[in-house]
Amino acid sequence: MPEHKITEFFNIYIESFLKRKTIIKNPLYLSDIWIPEQIKHRDRELSLIFQYIAPIIKRFKAPNLLLYGPTGTGKTLSVKYLGKQLDNLSTIKKLLIKHVYVNCRIYGNKSSSLYYILRDILSQLTKKVIKDGIKTTDLINELFSYIQEKDISVLIIFDEIDSLIKNTKEDDFLYLITRDDHVLDRNRLSFIGISNTLDYLKDLDARTLSSLNAIKIGFKPYNALQLYDILKERACLAFEEGVVSDDILRYIAAWVARESGDARKAISILRLAGNLADAESSDRVTMKHVERAIEGYDLDSFISEVETLSTHHKLIVLSILEEQIKLDDHSFVSFTEIYERYTQLCSEYGLRPLSKDSIGKKIKQLETFLGDYMEVYIKSFGKYGRKKVVRINLDKEKAYKVIKFLRDNI
Ligand SMILES: Nc1ncnc2c1ncn2[C@@H]1O[C@H](COP(=O)(O)OP(=O)(O)OP(=O)(O)O)[C@@H](O)[C@H]1O
Ligand SMILES: [Mg+2]
Repeated sequence: MPEHKITEFFNIYIESFLKRKTIIKNPLYLSDIWIPEQIKHRDRELSLIFQYIAPIIKRFKAPNLLLYGPTGTGKTLSVKYLGKQLDNLSTIKKLLIKHVYVNCRIYGNKSSSLYYILRDILSQLTKKVIKDGIKTTDLINELFSYIQEKDISVLIIFDEIDSLIKNTKEDDFLYLITRDDHVLDRNRLSFIGISNTLDYLKDLDARTLSSLNAIKIGFKPYNALQLYDILKERACLAFEEGVVSDDILRYIAAWVARESGDARKAISILRLAGNLADAESSDRVTMKHVERAIEGYDLDSFISEVETLSTHHKLIVLSILEEQIKLDDHSFVSFTEIYERYTQLCSEYGLRPLSKDSIGKKIKQLETFLGDYMEVYIKSFGKYGRKKVVRINLDKEKAYKVIKFLRDNI
């Protein structure tokens, strides 16, 4: 692009944006980074967590807790809040208690994940950089020596723990959370695990399960009134006064409550609507901005899931969608139909098709990658027997947009 064109775009979009008064005055309050002072509508869950964690204050071992629930139901927020309260209490009462928060997912899908998580825990506790090349067993020994030497009790929070369990040998995990029974004079390690479902527990053997011996606390999706309260606080802090009406907030809350009850989604839609209003130099957020934000959010989040997939995964998604839009009722397509379409697409793109078995496995993986967007189940066709059927939950218009995106990006 010629230099003068770039300068022109810069002036139109960036410079004028900088000069303009925007209706979002503080975007921080519309992000995940900000931790609200008060957590709304999670009294039951927080009181259970505090009740079970209380023994730590007296230096007893607290029971292991597993928090679970759909996305955006305040699980991470609740433990961050708990961590903050524990830190405050330790400072005021000079208690020898520390907490460590680790998000297991950021350590990826590798067998070495546990090693890096342990390094993270140790460096958070000791506030030192851990030298390279140190072995897992040495890390664990160092962790326990530190705890003993400093005479502290530690609460470790493993967020998105399902990814850790899936990626590590169960024994490693068992080792970490139960070894303090044998090594330390008292039980000094307590642990909270967080995940969307408890399905991963099925993958553990009986011995691991019994040593986990965890108390489970479920988080439910928010209803419309609760989402409204959460949005109201954010809107007041993030926007100029009077630019987001209560009707707008109620509309977003009702839409998200019907769809998922996910507070993150509600906040993102509010942010996106605000951005759209700002981009148009509008002096308030209108219903049109909200509707565009809802449409954009849904499509964007699906596309951002599929764009990182491998070529064959993309071809499977494309096969499902192209078969699905042929159906009037937009219902399920069978595995055979998907495979046929997939082989046609492979020849179109000059690729060698993978075997039926591999495609079956990839469809299973897609179930995890695409979450609620994808449904797979066994359907009975009377005398024709039972068949595996698949559906991607997008309406026809969005399906066409995703098909176009995939066709342009394979
Ligand atoms: N009760 C609440 N009050 C205020 N804000 C909330 C509340 N619940 C959730 N939020 C906000 O919604 C967003 C999502 O919450 P959080 O990260 O705790 O969800 P989560 O249950 O951990 O979801 P995931 O399973 O996807 O990790 C965050 O920005 C959080 O601050
Ligand atoms: Mg979370």
